[in-house]
Parts: sequence; C-alpha cells; structure tokens
Amino acid sequence: MGASKRTLVTSALPYANGPLHIGHLAGAYLNADVYVRWLRGTGQEVLFVCGSDEHGAAITVRARKEGLTPQEIVDKYHTLFQSTFQAIGISFDVYDRTSSPLHHRTSQEFFRKLFDDGQFIEKESEQYFDEEANSFLADRYIIGTCPRCGHPDAYGDQCEKCGSTLSPTELIDPRSTLSGSKPVMRSTRHWYLPLENHEAWLREWINTGELDGSPHHDPALWKNHVIGQCKSWLDAGLQPRAMTRDLDWGVDVPPEIPGAAGKKLYVWMDAPIGYISATRKWAEENGGDWRQWWQDEDTDLIHFIGKDNIVFHCLIFPAILKAHGGYNLPVNVPANQFMNLEGNKISTSRNWAVWVDEFVRDFPGLEDSLRYNMIRNMPEQRDSEFTWKSFQETHNGELVNNLANFVNRVLVLTGKYFQGTVPAVHLDATFKDPEGHQTTVSDWLRKMADQIGEIDASIRSFSFRDGLQKVMEMSSAGNQILQINEPWKVYQSDPEAVKPVLFISLQIVTALSRVLRPFLPFTANRLDTFLGCPTGGEKGRIQEILDLIQAGEAILPAGHQTGEVGHLFDRIGDEVIEEQIARLHATEVPIAEEETSESHAFAPEKPEIQYDQFAGLDIRTGTIRSAEKVAKADRLLKLEVDLGFDQRTIVSGIAEYFQPEAIIGQQVLVLANLAPRKLKGITSQGMILMATGPDGGLHFVLPGETLPPGCIIS
Ligand code: MF3
Ligand code: ZN
Repeated sequence: MGASKRTLVTSALPYANGPLHIGHLAGAYLNADVYVRWLRGTGQEVLFVCGSDEHGAAITVRARKEGLTPQEIVDKYHTLFQSTFQAIGISFDVYDRTSSPLHHRTSQEFFRKLFDDGQFIEKESEQYFDEEANSFLADRYIIGTCPRCGHPDAYGDQCEKCGSTLSPTELIDPRSTLSGSKPVMRSTRHWYLPLENHEAWLREWINTGELDGSPHHDPALWKNHVIGQCKSWLDAGLQPRAMTRDLDWGVDVPPEIPGAAGKKLYVWMDAPIGYISATRKWAEENGGDWRQWWQDEDTDLIHFIGKDNIVFHCLIFPAILKAHGGYNLPVNVPANQFMNLEGNKISTSRNWAVWVDEFVRDFPGLEDSLRYNMIRNMPEQRDSEFTWKSFQETHNGELVNNLANFVNRVLVLTGKYFQGTVPAVHLDATFKDPEGHQTTVSDWLRKMADQIGEIDASIRSFSFRDGLQKVMEMSSAGNQILQINEPWKVYQSDPEAVKPVLFISLQIVTALSRVLRPFLPFTANRLDTFLGCPTGGEKGRIQEILDLIQAGEAILPAGHQTGEVGHLFDRIGDEVIEEQIARLHATEVPIAEEETSESHAFAPEKPEIQYDQFAGLDIRTGTIRSAEKVAKADRLLKLEVDLGFDQRTIVSGIAEYFQPEAIIGQQVLVLANLAPRKLKGITSQGMILMATGPDGGLHFVLPGETLPPGCIIS
C-alpha cells in the first residue's frame, strides 16, 4: 500500500507569541499528525518536523506588550508549545526553534549562497527612522492619524478602526512607539529577491505540476483554494520582495557581506528555512542524513499550513529554494481553511478561543475527544466551526455510543464466555453480516482489508474527515454484527455458534486499534491494553494486519489472551459543556474594551447630510428646573426644562447616570423642535443632547460658558 518513497512532512512553525488555540490545531498540526502516523503505520519512511517561529514583529510587539524581552517571550511560549503539542499527541520527530544557533547558521549559509550567486538585487529606499531610539521602525512601531478615518492611533500597516491597509508614509503626524518621538525619513539599503524573475516557472509549476519541463507533482491532488490563491498572486504580477529588515531581533545578515551591520533576515526568509534546520537537528541527534530528506529526489516534501500561509509556501519559499538550487520543492501544500468558534472568528486579542493548554488541563483523558471532533469538522475545503455542543455530541453520540460500546461488549462477552481467550474457529466459519447474510470470517477479513485501503486513499488525498468516517463505519458494522447475531441469547442454546461472532468482533477491534491510532493515539493505546497487545508501537502496524489478511490469516490469533478490560469513555454531561460556554463568554474581551486599552472605540461615521438638514434642528440652551424618576422605568427621568420662551416636559434616558436632585439648575442643550413623543404615558417635548464618553457613560453637552435659557445653537 502506498509508495515506498521517503516523505518529509512539515507543519507551519507557530509564532512563539501566544498560546496555541484549536484553530492552530485544526489548521496545520492535527492533519499533519494523522497523515504522518498513517504513513508510519503503513511502514513508510517519514520524518515530521516543526519548531517555534521566534523572530519577526509578532514576537517583539508581544514582548513590549507583556513587558518582557523578546528572548523571555520566545522561551515562555516555546516551552508551552512543546508541552501542549505533546499533551494533545502531535508526534513530531523533532520540535526545534528558530533562535537556535544551528538555525542561525543554516539560514545565514542559505542567504550567503543566494548573495554569492547574485540572486538578490540591492535597492535603496526611504524608511522611517527613530533618532532617539536610533532605530529604523517596523510598520507596527509607527502610529499616527489615519488618513482615511482620522483615528489618532493607526498603525503603520493598518488602521484598526476603519480596517484600511496603510503604509507608514500615509500616516498623518507619525510618531514612534519606541520613544514617542517624530520619526524622520532615512534611506536604507536592502536585499530583494526579484520574484518577477521566478514568475514564469512558478506559473508553470503551479498550473501544470511541471518543473523545468519534467513532471514534478500532480496538480489535481492540490486543493482548489490553494491553487486559486497562487494564481491570483501570479496574475497580479510578482514584485521584488525585500529579504532583509532593519531590526535588532532576528538572524543577522552574514556579517562578512558589506553593509550587513544592523540588518536582519526577513522573518519569512528565515522561518521556512527553520524546516531545514529542524531536519539537521534531528539528523545530528539521530545519526541521520538531513540531505536525504531535502535533496534526494526520492523524498516527497509536504507542507501542512493554514490558508494565511499559502503564498509563502507555494510561491516565495519555493522561489528561495529554487534560487539556491539542489532542494526539493513541495509535492503538495494541503492548506486548511479556518476554524471558527461558537459563531465567531477565533481571536486572541478578544480572548475568543479554546486554548489547547487549558483544554488538556481541564479535560484530562479527553484529548482524543477533542482530536476526534476537530478532525470530524476539519476545515479542509472551507471554514468550519467548533462548538462545545458539537464536542459533547460527537463524544457521547459517536465515541461512547458507537466505539466504546462496541469494544466493551466484545471484550466483556469474550471474558464471560471464553475466559478472555480468542476462541478457535475455522476461517470458513460463518456469522450473519449487518444485512443478515451468512458470511465467512475470511470474507469479512478481506472486506476489512478493502476498507483499510479506502481509508488509506482518503488520507493520501488529505481527506481526513472521510478517513475518520470510514474508520467509524468499521465500528458501527461491528455493533450491527453483534446486534444481529445476538451472542448473548444464542450462547445458552448453541455456544459453538457464538465463536465466529466473537472471533470476527475481536478481529474488528484489533483492526480498529491499528487504524484509529493516527486519529486517536491515546485511545489506540488503551485498545492495545484491553486486547493484551503491546502498546505504543506504530511503525508498520497497519501494514502488518494487511499482510496477515493477505496471507489468509487472522489478525488476532485464536488462543490469544486478551488483557484487562477497562472502559474507554464516560459521557460528558450538560453541566460541563455549559460551564465552558459560560466561561468563554465571561472571559471574552469585548471589542470596545480591547480597543480602549490603547485608545477607544469609535462608532462608524453616519452618512453625509446637507447643511439644510442641520439648519432644520432647533437647538437651544435650557436649564433643568425639576427632575423626578419615572415610575416603572429604571432608565428614565422626567424633567421640567426652562427654554426661556417656553417651559418643556422632557423625558430623558439618563436615570442610570444622574440623581434627580443633583441636576436641578443644570444647564443643558435641548433639541427643541423634535416632534413630541409619549414615553410611559408622559408626553416628551424635546430632547436633551448628551455625549457618550469612552466608558459608555452619558455626559451633558454644554457651551463653553453659562448662558441664559433660549439661546440658539447653530
Ligand atoms: N509563524 C507563521 C505563522 O504562524 C508560520 C511560519 S511557517 C514557516 O503564521 F514556514 F515560516 F515556518
Ligand atoms: Zn482609519
């Protein structure tokens, strides 16, 4: 089954700037883990590499926010990532980090080779410089007034109020976040990769799967949305891309290159080279040859990523690899889309997420239930959604009712009728299949081999949802076999007839323990224990059962003694789920509050009006003469307001903010010609103008000095 080639699998290096959430897991780690474990099971040679992405503005911005150094930030999250990935069962062969000396060396050698071979162009441009901090400013370090909406704290690359994409030079009154000073323009030189020179071969490679005129990969196996994104970039025309930055956190441009002082590698140049460094680290520690994995044509390279990383892995990194020469290009980049959470986008800043480290802490023993739900709802072709309710439903309805129920019945009955020993039956012995047809044990074994072949095909086409569904169908068929053969009834009259039923059921449980492992590795270990098989082995264990079936043998032999039967899963109750949903909402940072930490939220501007519409408003100064609460209306006060030419009754929704007795004599502005309205049975003859403060509270709007009632505002 499958090719005998080596496969190098990478998962996107996560930025070490915050904990991992389920969106990360669904995007680039669980899918890769299933794929790798399956390949291992089929006996294929595979290496699974990853590590922390520890450079770039993502890190330095977070460090400033947390008041830590960049090194402290990456240490903190790198350590957390290692334990989180391990706890949720992501089986990397090596988990490295880009701050390691080996990575710095590897990426510098890479850069040096491109430089020596004349692959870069050097260009001078004007960029903002902070003279006080003596530093060029990354876009995120410059704030100023948004030229589009007037938001005073827009970033150099984006205004978070109106959402516009900006460049730092567009900001009005720019200031540096490092020192607060006004940055000046300074010219700086950088090395650019002329991507436009790579456009032609990239286009051919993406569209036809051919590289330098020979077949390289089958583009029909690539996802549509991946090819679509690449095409739209290619159609827009590729531009030179700077491969260096003026920063003080990152990989130094090799110091022997003239003009290198103060320059660092662009993070999207160094990070993907991290895959190579990680492979070198693995080779050093395991006595392997890293070049085999990157430079030998018999190795397939596959990048698992989220959709926001597509152009970097399908265009820019391939261009870097090709410019270097001698490296394999990916044969597929099966990017996933995004996973949303309870109806909203997952957001770190809004704390709208399920954090994986918190999940494994709060739900020990349910790691596989999370894996199960997420693979079942994996955003393979389009965005998908995680909800706590569906987590509960897939756990109770599928893992408990289908899988655990089947396994438990088989092992308990085997214990009861055969003292836990696999009964001896002839492979021609028959039992009723789910449709009620008499079937031989060997026929069903062959059918299982076919099913495993189908799961294999799903996984190799990156359809993990399909693969998992087919696994679960093996288990439901097992349940149906028990149901229709009723061994618990038949045993009294005909114990011999029970043997083939339990025999085939034990074969199904054994097959499940092997094919479930890539999806649910913790559960597979427990199945091994229940079955009395050695636990934890992975390499070749799927192939092993296929070979046995092929040879006309059973996969769990007669006479085998099963182990201690435990029970796989408890049901998850409603309280647990409700608590999680409540916690999610309780700890959500509302958008307004998140923004007030820096500035405050601004409501969107209203549509334009003409002067006449404004001139139609009769706004007057007034003085409150009396105020009282309105019965059965918590928010309303009934006011008598003196407008000079008239005394008005006005009902105003300000009771939460003012005591009636405290506002007698208060000067106010009144919209005097508003049509009267009835509120709680009182006719309100005007409206008091109020300002909403940053805290959402109401404040009176006043002219700069006290005026007598009745003055016109215009
Ligand atoms: N750190 C990036 C992200 O989280 C991914 C880097 S992938 C690599 O979006 F290829 F650069 F390593
Ligand atoms: Zn704006």
